[in-house]
This record gives sequence, structure tokens and C-alpha cells, in this order.
Amino acid sequence: MSDSHLDSPTAQIVSPFMQEPELMLECINLSKLYSEGPAEVQVLEGLDLRVYAGERVAIVGASGSGKTTLLNLLGGLDLPSEGTVMIAGMNLASLNEAQRGQMRNRNLGFVYQFHHLLGEFTALENVCMPLLIAGTDVQSATRRGAAMLDRVGLGHRMQHKPSELSGGERQRVAIARALVTEPRCVLLDEPTGNLDRHTAHEIHVLMAELNEQLDTSFIVVTHDEEFASTLDRVLQLRNGKLELVEAPTQKRGPDTASAEQGEPPHGD
Ligand SMILES: Nc1ncnc2c1ncn2[C@@H]1O[C@H](COP(=O)(O)OP(=O)(O)O)[C@@H](O)[C@H]1O
Ligand SMILES: [Mg+2]
Repeated sequence: MSDSHLDSPTAQIVSPFMQEPELMLECINLSKLYSEGPAEVQVLEGLDLRVYAGERVAIVGASGSGKTTLLNLLGGLDLPSEGTVMIAGMNLASLNEAQRGQMRNRNLGFVYQFHHLLGEFTALENVCMPLLIAGTDVQSATRRGAAMLDRVGLGHRMQHKPSELSGGERQRVAIARALVTEPRCVLLDEPTGNLDRHTAHEIHVLMAELNEQLDTSFIVVTHDEEFASTLDRVLQLRNGKLELVEAPTQKRGPDTASAEQGEPPHGD
């Protein structure tokens, strides 16, 4: 690539300082209707969401409001009835199954509501799996997997299988597995719901560190209001849409258009 563009006046106008923050994930007019089973269930209806690189968003809502459904759609694990999901500029609907898998492996980490660890593999093997799938050699994968298990406080349980771990320990393995590839965006479904306060706090600290160091985006379904209030935005899923939950100290003006869309995180 030539450097000649640096001399043009427009190159100065679009300097890095003036660029819009990078849009990590976008949903437009998302709807989900479950039509299998005895009755049709309209879970999401015309939902919009934008999450920028490095943003941390909490999603709250009553049981059955569609939080897990939404995360599944964001991660391309299920397809919407209507609407568009874009991840890192890619429209999920335009990708085939294999491409969606590759996109997930490259960009996303998942922590499911139930840990979904592979029972026949050790904690370390479970954590190394996404790295091996991405083509990392076994030695580096093992080193990085072990370091991440250490970080979630499980350095002494690497060779245990899921059935030999407590519920909280399994959840921490699942969290390590989601974070080990240092994905650009992590989707978490009530990740610390089964953990004691101390361990939950450790996980929150780890998330804050990754956000700080790697600009990782987090979309976290949580019932922990105290934790939610430490994130950039809290959105409530109600009647199929997301609404901004106002912190008592942060009153918004009459223009609420940014509530569901989010504002680019400018430094003001
Ligand atoms: N595969 C499915 N088929 C039919 N209905 C479903 C299916 N999955 C979830 N639902 C229904 O959709 C609603 C939202 O579920 P879910 O997204 O799991 O809610 P939440 O995670 O907020 O508790 C619930 O009423 C649930 O019964
Ligand atoms: Mg759920």
C-alpha cells in the first residue's frame, strides 16, 4: 500500500482521533416467534441494539422475557424470524453454517446459562478446545488454557473432569473457555448466578481487566443489580424490546432515541 494518501486533505480529516468507535454488534428489527409446540410464542418483537467495541452492556429482565433467546440470536446459535444481526460488520444471515462457526470462533466467547462442558474431557482440555479449533498448536493452547484456569482460581483443578467439580467450579471453567481466545465480544448468560459472592467478584474483576486491556465487549445477562450498575449500560428486555434502565443519578433528557441504540462511547 502506498503512503500517498497521507498527503491528501481527507486523510487528515479522517484521523484516528475523529473516527467513530467501531460497531461490534448490531441488531435491527429483530423478532423471534417460536412456532413449534402447542402455542406460538412471540418472544422478541422489533428489537434494536448496537454495541460498540469495548462496551459493557447488562441485560436484565423477568424470567421468560427472552434474554437467552436474544443471546442465542446474537451468537448465531439460532436464527431470527425477522430482522438482522451483524457481528463485526458481517450479516449472520449471509453466512453458511461453517462460516457462522468460524465467525463465532474468531469473534465471540459464550458463557451459557448451563455450562455445556464436555464431560469426557478435563477442565484444561475443555478450556483449550476453542484454541485448538482455531488452529493453535497444542503446546501454546495448553499454556494459555492453564494460565486462564489459574486466573479464574482453578489452577489446582486442571485435570478434573466436570463431574468431579462443584457447580461453581464448572461455571468458572466455562468462563475460562469463553475468554481463552481473547474474543472481541463475550456473551454471558447469568454467568455468576451459581457462584458465591467472592468468586463472582473475581470473575467481574477478570472481565473488567479484559475490557481494559483488550477492549473486549461484554453483553451480560445478569440478576446482579450491583454488578450491572458497574457496566456502561443496563438494558431491560420487556415486551420483546430493550429499554434503557436509568441509573438514579443519570437522568436523560426528553430525547430518548439513543436508549436502545446506545451512544458511541465518546470520551465525554
Ligand atoms: N425452543 C422453544 N420453543 C418454544 N418456546 C420457547 C423455546 N425456547 C424458549 N421458549 C419460550 O420463549 C420465552 C423466552 O424464553 P427465554 O429466552 O429462555 O427467556 P429468559 O432467558 O429471559 O428466561 C419463554 O416463554 C419460553 O418458554
Ligand atoms: Mg435464560
